[in-house]
This record gives sequence, C-alpha cells and structure tokens, in this order.
Amino acid sequence: MSKTIINQKLDCITGEIMKRIKTGINGLDELIEGGFPAGRSTLISGGCGTGKTIFCMQYIYQGAKKYNEPGVYVTLDERPDLIREDVLRFGWDIKKLEDQEKIQIVDGSIAKLGLPSEEEYALPVTGYDVDKLLLEVMRVIKRIGAARVTIDSIPALGFNFENENDVRKAILKLSYMLMRSGVTSVMTSEIREGENRFGKYSVEEYVVDGVLVLHYMGVGTQSNRTMHIRKMRATKHSEDLHPMQITEKGIKISNIEEEYSEA
Ligand SMILES: Nc1ncnc2c1ncn2[C@@H]1O[C@H](COP(=O)(O)OP(=O)(O)OP(=O)(O)O)[C@@H](O)[C@H]1O
Ligand SMILES: [Mg+2]
Repeated sequence: MSKTIINQKLDCITGEIMKRIKTGINGLDELIEGGFPAGRSTLISGGCGTGKTIFCMQYIYQGAKKYNEPGVYVTLDERPDLIREDVLRFGWDIKKLEDQEKIQIVDGSIAKLGLPSEEEYALPVTGYDVDKLLLEVMRVIKRIGAARVTIDSIPALGFNFENENDVRKAILKLSYMLMRSGVTSVMTSEIREGENRFGKYSVEEYVVDGVLVLHYMGVGTQSNRTMHIRKMRATKHSEDLHPMQITEKGIKISNIEEEYSEA
C-alpha cells in the first residue's frame, strides 16, 4: 500500500482536520474554520454590483501572491483587460503574476458573442461550447499547476443554451471536472435580493460545498453591504450577517461588534 493511502487512512482513523485554503478575503477565514475546505467548491451569490468579481479576483490574486498557489480565472462576463484595469485600483498587478505564470486568465467573454479575443487563453470564435471551455480550463490548470480556479459567472455559461436542463447538465459536468482536478474553486451566480434561491438555475447551490451570499441594500439614506454564509459543508461556520466593505485594499468582512466599536 502506498504511503499516501496509508496516511489518508490514518487521517480517517485519527479524525484529522480537513485541510483549509486561505481565502485571501480579510476577515473571512476566521468565520469558516480557517478557509475554504481544500479541493471543494464555493458559490458566491448576489445581485449586480455586490462584489462577486472583486471577491473572485481577490481569491486568485492573494492565492498567487501571498500563499504561492497558482490560480486560473475564467471570465465569461467581463473582458479580461477591463478586470485587470479595475483591480489595479486595489494595487493588484495581475499582469505581473500572469507573466510569472502564477495567474492565468481564460477568456470566454468574447467568444460567446462570436467575436475573436486578443487574449492568449481564449475560446475559439467558432462554436462556443462548454466542452471546449472545460478542455481549455483543464489544459491551463495542468500547465501552471493551479490550486485555485474561479468561474465568473455560471449564468454566463448558460448564455447559448436553449433549455435549462442543458445548462444544469453543463454545471454538473463543470463541477465534477473541477473536483476531479483537485482544485479549490469559486464560482459566481446572480440572484435578486430577497429571492429564495441562491443560483440562477437552482442547481448551482446543491453541487457546491459552500454558498456565500453578498447583499447590497438601502437602509435609510445609506446603502449597506453585508455577507452571510448560507452553507459550508464540513465546517462550523458563522451564522451571522456580516458587514462587508470594499476598501482600497479590496473586500473586508467584519463583525457587527467591530463595526460598532469603530464608529
Ligand atoms: N475601487 C473601489 N472602491 C470601492 N468600491 C468599489 C471599487 N471598485 C468597485 N467598487 C464597487 O464594487 C462594485 C463592482 O463590484 P463587482 O464588479 O465585483 O460586482 P459584481 O457582483 O461582480 O457585479 P456584476 O453582477 O455586475 O458582475 C461597484 O459597483 C462598486 O460599488
Ligand atoms: Mg461580476
């Protein structure tokens, strides 16, 4: 029997705590027992402008920069050049880490419109389909030895499908492939505030291991950002609604008590 299998069996017997992947989001790890469960996937759910894209880029950027874990960012909504430019505001130089092959962006945003992309890793214009996307993502994961992957966003994956069952099948396939490749993944999905579901196709939230919900709501004359953890399998997580801020360093999550003590 190999040493790894013996170690895995010993871990089961001794009940060794699951390995955690640091999220790179200030204030989040301590709410989820140290980070995302390694090798699993988490869905970031929220309405427009709630910070889903910034969250994903922070996870990938900090992963590469701070924890030396290469990451692949799959963008199906926004153009890569715009994302790179936007996150420079937080001091995140994505291009530099791409040059060092610690981050790679796969562009599926333009191909879905039938237009050619100028990116190094992109889908061919001819025939945008999920299998081609998956092949490209797997190829890039292998090439840079990625430990982290984000898919932004799942609804954009369903762009060219005629019926929702096909989208659901595609989502299942995607999550299965990501799990098989051993990466810790983050996906995004869009929901309207107050909706009683967490993914657009009502399947995303079940295939993932964790769901974080981002809110952006008007309270009195002000707008407030908050986050709550809807589920995180194998984790004793916070059940509170947490204040969230987008600062000059990116997303920061805090506790109600901290928020009041700072005021
Ligand atoms: N430098 C910044 N400082 C503070 N807030 C910012 C900054 N940049 C962006 N934001 C806020 O973040 C929002 C955009 O966040 P992001 O693009 O991550 O949202 P999203 O949930 O991905 O939206 P969409 O559903 O449109 O894709 C902006 O509308 C703005 O409110
Ligand atoms: Mg976005």
